[in-house]
Amino acid sequence: MSTSELASKAEQLKLSENLVYVDETAGNDESGNGTKEAPYKTALSAVTLVANMPEEKQETFKIMVKKADSNEYAEITASALKKAKNAHKIAEKKAKKQAEQAAKDQAQLKAKQLEEQRKLEESKQIKLVLDESLPEPKLIRIKDATENRGQRVKVFGWVNRLRVQGKDMMFIVLRDGTGYLQCVLTNTLCHTFDALTLTLESTVVLYGVVDKLPEGKTAPGGHELTVDYWEVVGKAPGGDDAITNKVSAESDPSIQYQQRHLVIRGDTASAVLKVRSRVMRAFRDHFDSAGYFEVTPPCMVQTQVEGGSTLFSFNYYGEQAYLTQSSQLYLETCLPSMGAVYTMAESYRAEKSHTRRHLSEYTHCEAEIPFISFNDLLDCIENMVKDVVNRVWAEPETRSMIEQLNPDFKPYTEPFVRMRYEEAIKWLNDNGVKHEDGSDYVFGEDIPESPERAMTNKIGKPILLTHFPGPIKAFYMPATKEDPRVTESVDLLMPGVGEIVGGSMRIWDHEDLLAAYKREGLDTAPYYWYLDQRKYGTCPHGGFGLGVERFLAWLLDRYTVRECCLYPRFVDRCQP
Ligand code: 4AD
Repeated sequence: MSTSELASKAEQLKLSENLVYVDETAGNDESGNGTKEAPYKTALSAVTLVANMPEEKQETFKIMVKKADSNEYAEITASALKKAKNAHKIAEKKAKKQAEQAAKDQAQLKAKQLEEQRKLEESKQIKLVLDESLPEPKLIRIKDATENRGQRVKVFGWVNRLRVQGKDMMFIVLRDGTGYLQCVLTNTLCHTFDALTLTLESTVVLYGVVDKLPEGKTAPGGHELTVDYWEVVGKAPGGDDAITNKVSAESDPSIQYQQRHLVIRGDTASAVLKVRSRVMRAFRDHFDSAGYFEVTPPCMVQTQVEGGSTLFSFNYYGEQAYLTQSSQLYLETCLPSMGAVYTMAESYRAEKSHTRRHLSEYTHCEAEIPFISFNDLLDCIENMVKDVVNRVWAEPETRSMIEQLNPDFKPYTEPFVRMRYEEAIKWLNDNGVKHEDGSDYVFGEDIPESPERAMTNKIGKPILLTHFPGPIKAFYMPATKEDPRVTESVDLLMPGVGEIVGGSMRIWDHEDLLAAYKREGLDTAPYYWYLDQRKYGTCPHGGFGLGVERFLAWLLDRYTVRECCLYPRFVDRCQP
């Protein structure tokens, strides 16, 4: 309690009584005020109170104490009073010392602030000048730093990391999308206003010479830019608005998705997006080298491919239309003119599920091939996955990002496991993977995500799971000749993710396809163009679709497909 508070408390006392009460049992030093109604607990509090009264009154006061073993108040004994007065003196000295220290600290802080302010003001006077006698700098991007070692360069970028060492040295790790570059600024370069107020994510241009680092020192690329001149291009906010206060790796996922435009600047998210770019190029290169043509079918459609329940519908100039679930049907129409075709387009699924492998919008890599058998189709899928992995693994920069994100990854060289749906049902039951209620899986039912994941993880190898029963698959899948209960269909399952590819042969007989529409209760009218394929020179054909985000989640060991696209769309999230 402060001295003034004590003094006012003393004033409030019943001065006429000139007594201060201490009850060792029922008193309270915090809430008491020394009256008989609210006595203190210790004599020290009573002495402190008296000591804060006007001097002329102090002598007139008596301290009355009710000992713990007594029911009566009696005047404090001389020895107890002496003891309390000593304790009060010690406490007073301590408080004085504390107050002096606090005042000193405050003064020091103020001086420091003033000094900083003065330095900042002074720094405004420091202007860097480009030394015209130095060689003309060459504008480079960070990825080209190695081949430009030893010569003067100029490089633009974002301040990815910042470390100030003393007042004459500053390290910036610069990021420009092509790589990271450690830059060192010394002396006057660190004394300018911009240097003293530099923040993460500010954009800068740095001039200087890139040199190999001496043995034992490490930095990205094994080199460092010794800066001789620099400028700020655009300053990022500090304080409450600093990027580190907006989002971090520890932030709640909902904040991370809301701030994804900032998250993608991070080392991990940007590496995923870069590998994604290389993977998409590898798919294109794979198909290109195998003689496929790329097509880009419409996303606004009036037909369903994978069942009506996951269609996003919208008003198309007064008519009902949908966002495509798959470009498959359009790819099929391209076979007679272009032969084997593929597309890398967005597909849309109104999936209400919150699983880690479902998006509402995903990138769908789909291919369609004429005149093939079901076994050819399985080979196509297996070869594509292996070839795409080999292609990205062969690029040193991409490989190092894959290794950064998934250190245990090795390209898979063995043949993929090929397993029929019926065998998978048996595997689940033999391996104790059951329904929640403990019952067995039975032929004919869908194998949901969880048992599928359990099986794939336990087998630990890619599995081409084939011959699913017709009723759990799409209308266009043909039954096999040997067993009409099952279809020529396939899912590719990968450890850690589960299904990444879905494919099948297609019913190619006109009458059979009409029968399939009837069975599904689908109106054939909007599909006139699809049915025409079976009229005007039909052929056995098949194809598949691969979810690019699921492929990446597997390749890069990401927990969810939401991390594998730029701005994920899922239930309740359509921002940024
Ligand atoms: O198995 P699906 O539904 O097959 C088709 O759409 C076929 N028409 C493709 C074809 O034959 N051309 O989907 C194919 C793949 C799945 O294996 C999965 O990787 C991905 O697309 N996929 C999804 N990815 C993310 N979010 C979703 N909601 C997905 N739905 C399917």
